[in-house]
Amino acid sequence: MTAAEMQAQTTTQPEKETGTVAAAETTVAPLLNFSDVSLSYGRVRALRGVSLTVGEGETVALIGANGAGKSSILRAITGLREISGGKIEYAGEQINGMRPDSIVAAGIAMAPEGRRVFPYMSVKDNLLMGAFARDDKKEIAADLEKVLNKFPRLRERFSQSASTMSGGEQQMLVIGRALMANPRLLLLDEPSLGIAPKLVQDIARSIVAINREDKVAVLLVEQNSRMALKISRRAYAIVTGKVAVSGDSKELQNDDRIRRLYLGGEVEEEKKEK
Ligand SMILES: Nc1ncnc2c1ncn2[C@@H]1O[C@H](COP(=O)(O)OP(=O)(O)O)[C@@H](O)[C@H]1O
Ligand SMILES: [Mg+2]
Repeated sequence: MTAAEMQAQTTTQPEKETGTVAAAETTVAPLLNFSDVSLSYGRVRALRGVSLTVGEGETVALIGANGAGKSSILRAITGLREISGGKIEYAGEQINGMRPDSIVAAGIAMAPEGRRVFPYMSVKDNLLMGAFARDDKKEIAADLEKVLNKFPRLRERFSQSASTMSGGEQQMLVIGRALMANPRLLLLDEPSLGIAPKLVQDIARSIVAINREDKVAVLLVEQNSRMALKISRRAYAIVTGKVAVSGDSKELQNDDRIRRLYLGGEVEEEKKEK
């Protein structure tokens, strides 16, 4: 699949079966509503009133430099860190204050930054750890098969310990592990970081496939803004704990502020003036 095809796929949202899309957008609450959230680590104010939404089945990107607050947003959603202000709603229910395992059980799974696998466990056991909050054995087996079809490398290395795998393979493993929770919303924290360019493409394709084929909403955190804007429908740029710019990913690819900040592209002021 080319990058253009990937974008065409992610920018075409599934239409509601009844009513118009416009009507649906004004009446249906988003799957995730992250509203005016603040979060601190002691004196460090990492998030200062951040608001964002993810729609059902949508892919949304969070881009921003190191230290901007991207992972803090994911820690707030997953309940790993208590927020000091604002509200987080998922599927119409308030989830801030809920325990992390209850949040997973509710349908939110995260592939954390830094490819945190359980190094001395096999690929198989790493994947099964992802299903810890479930007790539907048959469906777990079916989902395992689905994950192995999605990432054939994991099937090849099924019995090997995770520590023997390359960085890219470990990234597939943490994404696969998150999918084993059978999420409706998948949070991905910098899946391309430190991965060989060829595998970045593979991972980008897998993210598109997870969204399109499995109908999972994705909140994708990336410093690789180019890739993130290509495969997402909407995006938010986070700068020092605030949303600096947000909008349609396709439009943001050509937004001067975004290009200056993240894409390293020449701002074509001169051309425009002629
Ligand atoms: N455990 C922590 N203790 C203290 N400060 C932290 C901790 N985690 C993150 N921070 C600070 O919070 C800010 C946001 O961090 P983070 O959300 O990890 O950024 P990003 O994921 O965008 O790189 C940074 O200034 C970072 O140094
Ligand atoms: Mg981070």
